[in-house]
Amino acid sequence: MKRRWLTLTALLALGLGAAQIPGVVQGNYTGGTLGTITQPAPAQPSEGSVYRVGAWPLYTAELPDGPGKELVLSYCQVCHSVTYIPMQPPLPAATWEAEVNKMIKTYGAQIPEDVAKQIIAYLQAHFTPETRKE
Ligand code: HEC
Repeated sequence: MKRRWLTLTALLALGLGAAQIPGVVQGNYTGGTLGTITQPAPAQPSEGSVYRVGAWPLYTAELPDGPGKELVLSYCQVCHSVTYIPMQPPLPAATWEAEVNKMIKTYGAQIPEDVAKQIIAYLQAHFTPETRKE
């Protein structure tokens, strides 16, 4: 008889122990209401407060005319705006070459070699410290 009590106490202790393990949730699979989560009411603007909505900025920089411009417009806008080009400070010719190669090698731009050469020449003709006009 004593043994039985011991076993029962041990089992009870084990059961209680499991319930105390952090993160362990015990229960039954029964249907029930999940309840609702209420959100706070939106803040009411005070009288005289101002609310403005502007157009989404879709500005794209106008690139200078010259041989290669069409290639830049076709190949360089696949992933991002060509505004990235005049956004840079005037960069040395070698940096523009590295930049185009980075787009191809690092970011996977699909630009044939001869086209890349013409694009580099265009960028060097308009965006270096010596050639940049504005
Ligand atoms: C395959 C996608 C892809 C193509 C095509 C692409 N770029 Fe990029 N370009 C990127 C990513 C990605 C970045 C860096 C993340 C960002 O700033 O959005 C980037 C950034 C730039 C930058 C900012 C400076 C820098 O190095 O992060 C310039 C300048 C630039 N690209 C020029 C060009 C030119 C010129 C071409 C055409 C030859 C071109 N890109 C074509 C993906 C591309």
